[in-house]
Amino acid sequence: MNQLPPANRRRFLRNTALLGGALAAVPNPFSAAASELPIGKITVGVIGCGSVSRMYLPNLAACPHVELVSACDIIPERAKRAAEKFRIPNHYPGIAPMLTGAPFDLLVNLTDMQEHEHLNRQAIEAGKHVWSEKPIANSLAAGQELLALAQGKGLRLWGAPTVVQSPQFAFMAKTLADGTLGRVASAHASYGHLGPDWAAFFYTKGGGSLPDLGVYNLTFLTGLLGPGRSVAAMTGIVTPKRNVQGKGEVTVTEEDNAMVLLDHGNGLLSHIECGFNYFNPEDHAYTGQDHHTLSVTGRNGLMKLAGYDWGPHAVDLSTAQEPKFKRYADAKHAYVWENGASLCAECLATGKEPLFTPEHALHVVEIITAARESQVAGKHVKLSSTFKWPVVT
Ligand SMILES: NC(=O)c1ccc[n+]([C@@H]2O[C@H](COP(=O)([O-])OP(=O)(O)OC[C@H]3O[C@@H](n4cnc5c(N)ncnc54)[C@H](O)[C@@H]3O)[C@@H](O)[C@H]2O)c1
Repeated sequence: MNQLPPANRRRFLRNTALLGGALAAVPNPFSAAASELPIGKITVGVIGCGSVSRMYLPNLAACPHVELVSACDIIPERAKRAAEKFRIPNHYPGIAPMLTGAPFDLLVNLTDMQEHEHLNRQAIEAGKHVWSEKPIANSLAAGQELLALAQGKGLRLWGAPTVVQSPQFAFMAKTLADGTLGRVASAHASYGHLGPDWAAFFYTKGGGSLPDLGVYNLTFLTGLLGPGRSVAAMTGIVTPKRNVQGKGEVTVTEEDNAMVLLDHGNGLLSHIECGFNYFNPEDHAYTGQDHHTLSVTGRNGLMKLAGYDWGPHAVDLSTAQEPKFKRYADAKHAYVWENGASLCAECLATGKEPLFTPEHALHVVEIITAARESQVAGKHVKLSSTFKWPVVT
């Protein structure tokens, strides 16, 4: 039997988000009499009670728009433990009994990357809204089919990451829109660590550092600069064997090292790098670390993001008029990467819209598959998908 995260995994986590059923009678809490009305609640079922659920469940439990109804894991002890800890009335050993069990509105999918696509499909077919950890699906075509299925049923489908919700993203998007940087030429982002040791799925087919890590930088940069038009990439495997808890030695078949170049059109190019072999003096911490992980450069200015795009601290800006770097968007803020599912529940309950969209998430899925194709074929790969841009903040 697999064990829940031991100490090093805990450290990793510590350091590292037309309504049916219960919604029919949900009042709008922003209406004139909102203060006298009960807060609209969305009933939620969580599938996957492993590492990341330890970040999501406290967030969901604290969300006034969420009523946690069910927990599910194919390792039943994990579902039971999560249910006990967060007072969730039902727990199940698989999606089938969960979907036919206690009714709920929104499935929160926190399972292995390889499981998302089919579980998301099963949930949508059963009439559930879905928030999925990344990726929503393993290919653009499969993701678009899922989205069409959801839309046809009047359901919503959303996926991680939530990076466009941060105040630092908003500041950078506004700075670009204001023309402060002048004609923008280039952007760069980097994200890596030494790789998870608690599950093999990160390293096997359907896993890899691009959908696990590169996805953040790709979402942030396309959110800032607009959809990519074509991709050129190199990927590799630096560590061919990994030791995984409960499994022993695992053969790595997916890239644990990747560099991706994106053409955004009009001469604007960006580059991201990601991998599971990056020494990190902060041990993946984000609360205290302040180094720059992302930059955007134009003819009149340069801005750099302090901290990770999923755990940002501030933006440092230098312009031709004020060359000395000045710090912006450094106020204490409420954004946390693990609140995507809570935000979806809030949006379902109130009619608000999040800034992240499934079309954007699927554009990033296409970039990832195109990057792999580029590596195999040794050529640039054109992208076909797009999303609503600019991301309005
Ligand atoms: N761990 C993190 O810090 C972190 C951070 C951000 C995002 N994520 C993402 O969250 C997802 C899960 O990662 P994790 O680290 O929590 O992995 P994990 O292995 O710790 O947890 C996944 C859980 O899903 C369960 N599961 C797998 N298939 C299932 C199925 N068909 N039905 C029900 N349960 C099933 C597993 O038994 C396991 O308990 C991945 O997409 C990962 O990229 C993880």
